[in-house]
Amino acid sequence: MIVYFNEKYLPLDEVKISPYDRGFHYADGVYEVFRTYHGKPFRFASHIKRLKYSLNELNICFNDLKEFEFISLNLAEMNKILPEDFSVYIQITRGVQFPRKHNYENNLTPTVFVSVSKIKDNSEQLDKGVKIILEEDIRWTRCDVKSVSILPSTLAKTKAVNQNAYEAIFHRDNKITEGSHTNFFAVKDSVVYTAPLSNFILEGITREVVIELCAENKIKVIEDYIRVDQLKGFDEFFITGTTTEITPVIRIADSIVGNGLPGKVTRLIQKYFREYVNSI
Ligand code: PDD
Repeated sequence: MIVYFNEKYLPLDEVKISPYDRGFHYADGVYEVFRTYHGKPFRFASHIKRLKYSLNELNICFNDLKEFEFISLNLAEMNKILPEDFSVYIQITRGVQFPRKHNYENNLTPTVFVSVSKIKDNSEQLDKGVKIILEEDIRWTRCDVKSVSILPSTLAKTKAVNQNAYEAIFHRDNKITEGSHTNFFAVKDSVVYTAPLSNFILEGITREVVIELCAENKIKVIEDYIRVDQLKGFDEFFITGTTTEITPVIRIADSIVGNGLPGKVTRLIQKYFREYVNSI
């Protein structure tokens, strides 16, 4: 497998990262994930804007963000993935600082890593829906930053997988924020609800696309918190993300949602999403 590391294309096993990299010591870095449809990066500008925002919020200085389109296409070619679609993982840490000390220096050179992978077939999950579990949101209060410091998310996702669920959905003070790697939506009487943008959630690009598609198709969206104690009052649920796309939720822990089949509005939004990605 060929990856991109600090301005070079290298076989994965030739990548050397210092143990003094602040990413290793302090999870002092950010990441981004985007994918292609029909060979073209999907909403690339929005992903780059979000990456820029995350870097700025952590005061990491790195500007060559537009290059990632070219780099990822090169990697897809070198790894013989093309013409299939692929996802791209970008990680930028603040860089190496010796000796270890908590406060960062301003002149560090960021460590940059990019890898590409084939998109896994998710057709069964899109068709049948998935189980989720609910977990208390113990993450920090800057979830708007796509920091690599996501241990509470990886622990919650592992707990979900161990319970045969696809995703763990977080709640804070009875309010649902988002999933460990997805945004969360609910539907009641054909109105779609999702948490408002704030420091408690990541501004998901798929979330943004869903809201746009709903507006175009006259489906009302209310950006307000879905409350855990009111979950039973909703008709449908779905989660969104770059590789998750629009995945129906048919089970919340041990409770079956509705009749256990993906809901009508969820199906409609899946259809609009598919038509949209096929049209660009
Ligand atoms: N996850 N919320 C969180 C906490 C996320 O990590 C993600 C993305 C999303 C959905 O964002 P988008 O629609 O832009 O993919 C919401 C990526 C894919 C990941 O961690 O792999």
